[in-house]
Amino acid sequence: MGKLVVCDHPLIQHKLTHIRDKNTNTKDFRDLVDEVATLMAYEITRDVPLQSIPVETPVTEAEGKVISGRMLGLIPVLRAGLGMVDGMLKLIPSAKVGHIGLFRHPDTLEPVEYYVNLPSDATERMLIVIDPMLATGGSACAAIETLKQRGCAQIKLMCLIAAPEGVAAVHQAHPDVDIYIAALDEKLDDHGYIVPGLGDAGDRMYGTK
Ligand code: URA
Repeated sequence: MGKLVVCDHPLIQHKLTHIRDKNTNTKDFRDLVDEVATLMAYEITRDVPLQSIPVETPVTEAEGKVISGRMLGLIPVLRAGLGMVDGMLKLIPSAKVGHIGLFRHPDTLEPVEYYVNLPSDATERMLIVIDPMLATGGSACAAIETLKQRGCAQIKLMCLIAAPEGVAAVHQAHPDVDIYIAALDEKLDDHGYIVPGLGDAGDRMYGTK
């Protein structure tokens, strides 16, 4: 079973409360999501492999640690996932970025893939799927499945807020995938919104409705 890591640092919880607030305007919402993404990047990269390299300090020759090689790929799910990419890139600027676009089929309500563009060396990287709201888990599971079908094996999922239903769905479909969130909320409502949540993440991020 994958891990569920709740990144509940006080700075993250503080910012998340303002993100949830319906009176937070679009610009502030975007800025806060960006800041939380940067703070979460610190936690999600905690186990990336290091390699030793020689380093000459002003005092002596020594060994230092650096992150080894081509390590990370960020895979935002369009469109709300885009809002967390720049914040992550501030800490991991050498990560490559791929994109997955999904829509919900009006008849079946199943997620349908309409756009996939991955780094050419995606199979060699640890990929972080970014989707701010883990509600039913349908799109997160589909995005992870898309990556696995293309041969990617090291995958993590990063969300701002999750419902227990979404966590259970991802854990069941993809027990090898660890999930990183800023908060685990109470439930889904009848329309599939997370309660208390923050409303529609994409609309709040881009000022649409
Ligand atoms: N997607 C959102 O943007 N918000 C929710 O509450 C659930 C899914």
